[in-house]
Amino acid sequence: MSELVTIHRHLIEAQAAHPEASGELSSLLGSIALAAKIISRNVNKAGLLNVLGGTGDVNVQGERVMKLDDLANETLKACLRYNGLVAGIATEEDDDIVVLPSGPASGKYVVFYDPLDGSSNIDANIPIGTIWGIYQRTTPAHDGPVTAADFMQPGSALVASGYAIYGSSTMFVYAAGGVVSGFTLDPEYGEFILSHPNIETPDQCKCYSMNERNSEDWGPGPTALLAAVKSTSPRYQGSTARYVGSLVADVHRNLLYGGIFVYPEDRKSKGGKLRLLYEAIPLAYVVEAAGGTASTGRERILDMVPTHIHQRVPLCIGNSAEVELYERHSTEPT
Ligand code: AHG
Ligand code: MN
Ligand code: MN
Repeated sequence: MSELVTIHRHLIEAQAAHPEASGELSSLLGSIALAAKIISRNVNKAGLLNVLGGTGDVNVQGERVMKLDDLANETLKACLRYNGLVAGIATEEDDDIVVLPSGPASGKYVVFYDPLDGSSNIDANIPIGTIWGIYQRTTPAHDGPVTAADFMQPGSALVASGYAIYGSSTMFVYAAGGVVSGFTLDPEYGEFILSHPNIETPDQCKCYSMNERNSEDWGPGPTALLAAVKSTSPRYQGSTARYVGSLVADVHRNLLYGGIFVYPEDRKSKGGKLRLLYEAIPLAYVVEAAGGTASTGRERILDMVPTHIHQRVPLCIGNSAEVELYERHSTEPT
């Protein structure tokens, strides 16, 4: 019988080292983990539940909304709405923030998420995920409901962030206090059990993840990085291309094996495709806690303050050596 270290027990033991921490984070992560279990169940039975395919709607991103995007979004709201800790939500699938009941039931945290990342892969049974982050609200509770300003904080202010990945197994990975912990869902009793304690990324570029179809539009940073990983340099002799099309899956593999993921700005996505608040920031916090780095090529992701909840950014995330190479070439005078 494994040690049965659940998320709750893991946080209680972590809190022993941080007496100032309250049980609130444990309760909040419990709500997010419950949503991940429900989404995992729906993803794993998608072909039998008539939840494949699109809803026919287009979201604020201008992207086709998949039925599972919607279902995951509503599942997270339902799990967060009544735990008395969350004052507001920002989600990829809603144009504006979602203000939760104000008054004494309202909480001091705001949660933001990409309910289902990698949606284009859903119908092909390719790994997808949920990305989330937690801030403390900055506007005083007596001022009334939260506003978008509560989400306009740098990633360095995160209370915790992480992701769920619905793959060959379902995992819940989160970073708090500079430590990255991975839990695997045992579907027989519906509990996430610690399986990857204290994840640290090896300093080896095993995989490079880029959509080369867009490379003719790339600037000097991605162009130099692509040339480097294909060069005869000893560092890249063991490297290989791996690109899933689900950011969570590419980042998770690179977190464990070592590697670099890049989604630069290009002709289709002038300011980059990926969203700063609910994709780049939460993953940057995890990757940096595991020893890597995340940058736009000009700015460290965790230093950036979003200007609006759906702001897009170019993203280079993974081993520090590759991010630094990307930055050196991105900031060279052209
Ligand atoms: P989402 O499904 O939440 O919109 O995210 C999709 C993102 C990301 O998961 C992935 O890395 C990227 O889109 C793939 O984009 P391309 O298909 O343009 O390569
Ligand atoms: Mn996404
Ligand atoms: Mn999404």
